[in-house]
Amino acid sequence: MKNTADYFKNLIAHCKEYGFVFPSSEIYDGLSAVYDYGPYGVMLKNNLRDYWWRAMVQMHENIVGIDAAIFMHPSVWKASGHVDAFNDPLIDNKDSKKRYRADVLIEDYVANKIDAKIDKEIEKAKQRFGDTFDEPMFVATNVRVQEYKQKKENILTRFARAMSTGELADLKNLIDELEIACPESGSRNWTEVRQFNLMFATQMGAVDGDIVYLRPETAQGIFVNFLNVLNTSRQKIPFGIAQTGKAFRNEIVARQFIFRMREFEQMEMQFFVRPGEEMKWYDYWKNKRMLWHKAITPAEKLRFKDHDNLAHYANAAVDIQFEFPFGFKELEGIHSRTDFDLKSHQELSKKKLQYFDPELGESYIPYVVETSVGLDRLFLTCLSNAFTEETLEDGSSRTVLKIHPILAPIKVAVLPLLKNKEELTGKAREVFNMLKTNFICQYDEKDAIGKRYRRQDAIGTPYCITIDFDTLETNTVTLRERDSMGQVRIDINDIVNNLHDKLHISNLLTD
Ligand code: GAP
Repeated sequence: MKNTADYFKNLIAHCKEYGFVFPSSEIYDGLSAVYDYGPYGVMLKNNLRDYWWRAMVQMHENIVGIDAAIFMHPSVWKASGHVDAFNDPLIDNKDSKKRYRADVLIEDYVANKIDAKIDKEIEKAKQRFGDTFDEPMFVATNVRVQEYKQKKENILTRFARAMSTGELADLKNLIDELEIACPESGSRNWTEVRQFNLMFATQMGAVDGDIVYLRPETAQGIFVNFLNVLNTSRQKIPFGIAQTGKAFRNEIVARQFIFRMREFEQMEMQFFVRPGEEMKWYDYWKNKRMLWHKAITPAEKLRFKDHDNLAHYANAAVDIQFEFPFGFKELEGIHSRTDFDLKSHQELSKKKLQYFDPELGESYIPYVVETSVGLDRLFLTCLSNAFTEETLEDGSSRTVLKIHPILAPIKVAVLPLLKNKEELTGKAREVFNMLKTNFICQYDEKDAIGKRYRRQDAIGTPYCITIDFDTLETNTVTLRERDSMGQVRIDINDIVNNLHDKLHISNLLTD
């Protein structure tokens, strides 16, 4: 059932039903592409942020954190290029009245029409040749595959040129020539392509106050604090500054749940390096970030994708993509941002944003390698991996969130076997009170024990502890593991150590 529209729809419904994610202002019918996190959602989100923060700041002596304000001086966005260049090309279909990003229409065409045909040829050949099939050789020599590849390259070259020069008419020509139709109406009755700036603007102070922007990325808060951090943290290049926080983009097309939101959270790290050493550090962070994801996500669902179009600030850029239920899409970006940002801020602010390198005996504007992951996308990655609808051996079914135990919102549920037996509920409360200073726990006595296990499975609780009549005799409890549903008996005095070994964040950091 995975990778289907149904699977995704069920996942979204599950998020709402079990208190992970709600539409914003739902009693007023919601606000497009804005979401609220519920009681379990906020805990999962906090755990994911904590895992990132520790991996960056705790595990690297040369990375420090900051928390910059969302509002920044308007000149920041002039210097960064966002006022002039943070645009998406938009196009409307005159029949369906639906609005699209022209670049996404073209990218989807390449993925769905050309890549899919190449994959089909490979699949057919695989079946024809069986074990003797040599895929690289087939791809390099098969005439039809080569034709598709050539077509793809021609499109992408024109596309990249049009995007970098801002030739919107050429984007429109491509859409016409490729006969791309509106997914909604099926018609090719398009408007011209227009640029649309993605920043939200508001006013600060009195009625006629200055325009300020809601930050569209957290990175600029790091750049403008470069000197402050340098002067107060005793760091030497290479060093990094990490930050998590909200970002805002007036996305033209905001679909796919929390994948593309208008208000979202980023976790970004800018790594300042010597000019000329940026590619070494780019490769370093590329690999390091992939390993971080692989600790919580199956390797086959992750891949690198080099950017076809480089942003105005980058000399190299790659995405870590995850296979969401709607296909492989960007989860994190790793960008070599050159000295673009610091140099622009130096020019506009007239403040020297340089580093004196004691080893080289000279000053320079550092180059920057950035890692930037969306916390909400990571949340969706985590749930897409975890959400499982299982049929059990006895024919019954269960919905279980197989979230990595260390990231799960509730770590342990404490369950007395029966509700009306004071000796069981009293003992269960005792165990709960003992555990709650160590782990986020939940006490639950309502409904039959099987139903309570299902409820914990549905919110991803990795361990359930059941207090039964044997507990009163032997001071032992059953410990049930979520994924295997296996149960073992364990002494109450051993629970903390046993679970601590399994649930401590250090396991993820050393992995
Ligand atoms: N500072 C660089 C930067 O902002 P980006 O590729 O535009 O780069 C980085 O964004 C990450 O932020 C993306 O990989 C994605 O995870 C997340 N992100 C960007 N736009 C988003 C949106 N509208 N909704 C949710 N997450 C988003």
